Amino acid sequence: MAVVLVIGGAGYIGSQACKELVAAGHVPVVFDNLSAGRREAVQFGPFVEGDILDPSALASAFAEFKPSAVMHFAALTSVPESVAQPERYWRINVAGSLALLDAMRAAGASKLVFSSTAAVYGKTDAELIAESCPLAPSNPYGATKLTVETMLRDFSHAHGLRYAAFRYFNVAGADPDCQVGECHQPETHLIPLVLQAASGQRDNITVFGNDYATPDGTCVRDYVHVKDVATAHVLALQRLLDGGDSLVSNLGTGRGYSVLDVIGRVQAVTGLAVPHTVAERRPGDPPRLVCDGRAASTALGWSPARSDIDAMIADAWRWHQSGWARAQD
Ligand code: UFG
Repeated sequence: MAVVLVIGGAGYIGSQACKELVAAGHVPVVFDNLSAGRREAVQFGPFVEGDILDPSALASAFAEFKPSAVMHFAALTSVPESVAQPERYWRINVAGSLALLDAMRAAGASKLVFSSTAAVYGKTDAELIAESCPLAPSNPYGATKLTVETMLRDFSHAHGLRYAAFRYFNVAGADPDCQVGECHQPETHLIPLVLQAASGQRDNITVFGNDYATPDGTCVRDYVHVKDVATAHVLALQRLLDGGDSLVSNLGTGRGYSVLDVIGRVQAVTGLAVPHTVAERRPGDPPRLVCDGRAASTALGWSPARSDIDAMIADAWRWHQSGWARAQD
């Protein structure tokens, strides 16, 4: 049993991780400023309302709970927003992570699981993106996450930090039990927007560009279930607790779906029509991001067991129709 400080634990992925931590016998302590996270999502352990840019709030959370490890989910995560407002991304994602690393050092905490992103990769000819592929972020969001990865490497050399950095591909779906799920304000992610169009909450969905060099001209992404992502974090935590080495690993399925594929699968799963129109490309979008997921399976024995596209959409659809996801609309 480990006490784990979960920074950003009231958010979409962090709250699912808390649920999986409890299932594995650990105690998640959520530290979140509720700027994007939701109080209702904190169901699995103690809650500290605080900001990673506030060193005294971090110091007192470490002093009070003495966590054996940290999971760090707190970040701004929208590609188009990062293009428009890079300063916010550098402050919260990079300066915030540095403040957390400082607080960990001061408290003698040396194990961290960090949320990185496939946006650290740029345009590539590789069919599947492995961790060894060139790192060339095409937007500020990816650049900030790559910078934090570099800080982690440097802190591990200088100060003995041990960490796992997961490069998420497109996290989707919702808790199969519908306890927690995705609820961004405003929503920018494809699958929840397509579900809103299917349910009539929005008139239609805009497809950002259909002239990419992909089979149907729309961007291709690798969608991975949020529960599988959360499970990978628990496996990485165990590896670190057992004395294992640091790890940088993709989290995805190796299967790619275009924007039009996703619209088609939502129509099939829900039985509802999804009105859509085509518009200009969205700045910062790489045409294709599909993962080589072998590192996580080799290092952690992880597999994306629940990440079938229809299962992910069905879980997201159930969530969309229930609970506080619905209350937001
Ligand atoms: N898209 C549309 N219309 C919309 C919204 C999205 O066509 O209304 C398209 C986007 O242009 C993109 C695809 O759907 O081609 C997926 O877009 P999302 O906004 O859902 O996700 P992104 O691929 O931009 O980014 C997500 C996460 C990032 C992560 C990245 C890694 O938000 O944090 O996946 O693949 F880095």
